[in-house]
Amino acid sequence: MTSVKDTEIPRHIAIVMDGNGRWAAKRFLPRVAGHRQGVESLRRCVKACSDRGVSVLTVFAFSSENWNRPAEEVSGLMDLLGLALGREVPQLKKDGVRVHIVGDRTGLSEKMRAGLLQAESSTAENTRLILNVCFNYGGRWDIAQAAAKLASAGETINEWNLDRAMALAHVPDPDLLIRTGGEQRISNFLLWQAAYSELYFSEKLWPDFDEAELDAAIDSFGRRQRRFGKTPEQVLKASEPRKVA
Ligand code: IPE
Ligand code: IPE
Ligand code: MG
Repeated sequence: MTSVKDTEIPRHIAIVMDGNGRWAAKRFLPRVAGHRQGVESLRRCVKACSDRGVSVLTVFAFSSENWNRPAEEVSGLMDLLGLALGREVPQLKKDGVRVHIVGDRTGLSEKMRAGLLQAESSTAENTRLILNVCFNYGGRWDIAQAAAKLASAGETINEWNLDRAMALAHVPDPDLLIRTGGEQRISNFLLWQAAYSELYFSEKLWPDFDEAELDAAIDSFGRRQRRFGKTPEQVLKASEPRKVA
């Protein structure tokens, strides 16, 4: 059996952390209890990624469309982000994790925006792992805001410039995109950046996503051939060691 030690580690892993509500429903708990458990799972996942040498972890915490949920759940999720950051940031800081909150901040309260800035600035010196928390984020919002930024600066709208104006311009594109919870869809996550990500769908509900399931995803990634439009033969040839003349 291949152990995760001898498989290729993706540099950037992105995760749609889905299934918190179902996790709670199975236990006759309110949905917010599932989200709270989801934070525990995220803490474990951040540590596991860091231990395995992953450089960037990007997680989907609240989508542009999640505003359509019942008001009680939306406010529970808003409060949870603030609480989780306040509680987790000191440890993340010690563990070398740099936090970025990615998404539209215009709809967020003043207090919340200050909390996000504080989490980012207090971890800004860290280099071990970049953690991007996508909150009030949508792939369509990102493409539109990038295009608007270029247009207002009078810059040409082309792939290169759009890429630089995108909310995740500070990291390379994700190599592996995991979705937990059994659904096989993107739900407006990294529409632009996932162009060539390898996809992995896990049946586990997010609060149950553990190190073993992360390793299963990494192992699956290590067994794939990424072709980026080329033929399998071209890819094999490019990975052969060069002959010394
Ligand atoms: C994902 O879990 C977290 C958020 C969308 C905030 P869900 O809340 O979507 O959980 P399910 O899909 O209903 O089980
Ligand atoms: C995607 O999950 C958003 C997050 C995990 C934050 P959803 O549960 O909102 O996705 P859909 O609605 O089932 O597609
Ligand atoms: Mg869901």
